[in-house]
Order: sequence, then C-alpha cells, then structure tokens
Amino acid sequence: MTERVSEARILWRLLLGQPRQGTHAERLQAFYAPQASRYDRFRARLLQGREDLLVHLAPAPGEHLVELGCGTGSSLERLGPMVNQLACFDLVDLCPALLVLARQRATGCPVARVSEADARHWQPAKPVDAVFLSYALSMMPDWPLVLANAYAMLRPGGRIGLVDFYLPGSGSPWANALWRRWFAHDGVHLSAEQLPALRAHFVEIYCAERRARLPYLPGVQAPYYLFVGRKPAG
Ligand SMILES: C[S@@+](CC[C@H](N)C(=O)[O-])C[C@H]1O[C@@H](n2cnc3c(N)ncnc32)[C@H](O)[C@@H]1O
Repeated sequence: MTERVSEARILWRLLLGQPRQGTHAERLQAFYAPQASRYDRFRARLLQGREDLLVHLAPAPGEHLVELGCGTGSSLERLGPMVNQLACFDLVDLCPALLVLARQRATGCPVARVSEADARHWQPAKPVDAVFLSYALSMMPDWPLVLANAYAMLRPGGRIGLVDFYLPGSGSPWANALWRRWFAHDGVHLSAEQLPALRAHFVEIYCAERRARLPYLPGVQAPYYLFVGRKPAG
C-alpha cells in the first residue's frame, strides 16, 4: 500500500470519529483496530513533544518506570538502549489492537512488561520511581481518578510526566470551544483543569505550554503542554 493511501485511511478514520456505543474499552478497540498498523507513522507528526517529555522525566538506571496509555509501545524506541538499564518498565493500555504492537516491540526487552488494563485501577506490586502519560490522559474518562492512581503508585519523591493536548488558560473562549469540539469527535476530551491539578499535587520540575502544527492543516496549531513533577517527599 502506498504511503498516500495509508495516510488517506487514517484521515478517514479520524473523520469518522470514535464510535459512540459500547464501553470505553470497546470504543477504543473499534477506533484503533482499523488503523493500528499505520498508527505510529501518522502520530509521529501529530503527537509532538514526546521525546522532550522523556528528556525531562530523565529515567535513570535501576529505576522502575510505568507508562499509562502506552498505545503501540513506541516509547520503547524513544527510550532507546537505556531501557535495558531500567529495573522494570511497565506498559499499560486498554486497547488490545494497539497492545499487539506494543508486545512485538517489547520482545527481546527483558525489563518491559506489557499489560492490558485500565489506567484508573492498574497498580504495580510496589511503589515506582516514575510514571508518564503521553497524549493519553485526554482520552481517559475520569482523568482525576487516573491522576490519583498515578499519584498512589509513586514512591515519595517519585516523578510524573505528561504531554497532552489541552485548553490553555490564555486561549480565547471561542478558540477553546472549537478545539474542544474538534478533538471530542475522536474521543479526545480537552481540559483546562489538568495542568492546574498537576501543579496542585506535584512539585513542578519542568512545565512548557506549546503549540503543535497539525498534518494537512497549514497554519493551524493545536495547544499542548508538557509537565514533569515530583510527588512531595512526605
Ligand atoms: C492517543 S493514544 C497515545 C498512545 C501513546 N501514549 C502514544 O504516545 O502514542 C491514547 C492511548 O490511551 C489509551 N487509553 C485510553 N483510555 C485508557 C484507559 N482507561 N486505560 C488505559 N489506556 C487507555 C488508548 O487505548 C490509547 O492507546
């Protein structure tokens, strides 16, 4: 299949939007299964700042790292060879179609463990050093519950990292309303509350508010944020 046909299929899926029926897990599967094999190539241009997130999260040798909403596990590639210096890397997602690719990527990486589970409830056996979500919190209903779960799984002093689309406090009401509608069509629920919630519960290490160019839409830039914080020590 040529690249152009492949891109057209992804765009068609995005235009169709996420199905409205079924459980959250069923809707994710129905949305992603038809585009799973082409997911990474298209998202490489759409989901910006994912490399930067890992730079600022700075996972260190011997640490236990968790990704909630790992999708195809492409963070394994962004982490590169250092992933094998981790004690453990748990990759968690609710969508079987994307997890097939994550499991393929994790083959031959002894520290990686891929789990099909809901980020609202999944917990590691012991507190971990760092947890991150990349363009995932905005797709999770009950995101405050997911953040509370991430907080609970971190050791005191452990780090959290997020990169995601959002509604900036500085955005005009009409622009924010437009972005909200646009993204909701594909099951992405933008919020103005996530960044303030992160700042309220974690000690800020790094924060940036940026805009990302959108493929095929010259001049259109979607707001996204990067946040890395530390769970208070006690
Ligand atoms: C836009 S994708 C991002 C995937 C990946 N983090 C990346 O950067 O490419 C959002 C991911 O969140 C997952 N997701 C949504 N709700 C979830 C939940 N409640 N628990 C676990 N994963 C969830 C989806 O299945 C999907 O893989």
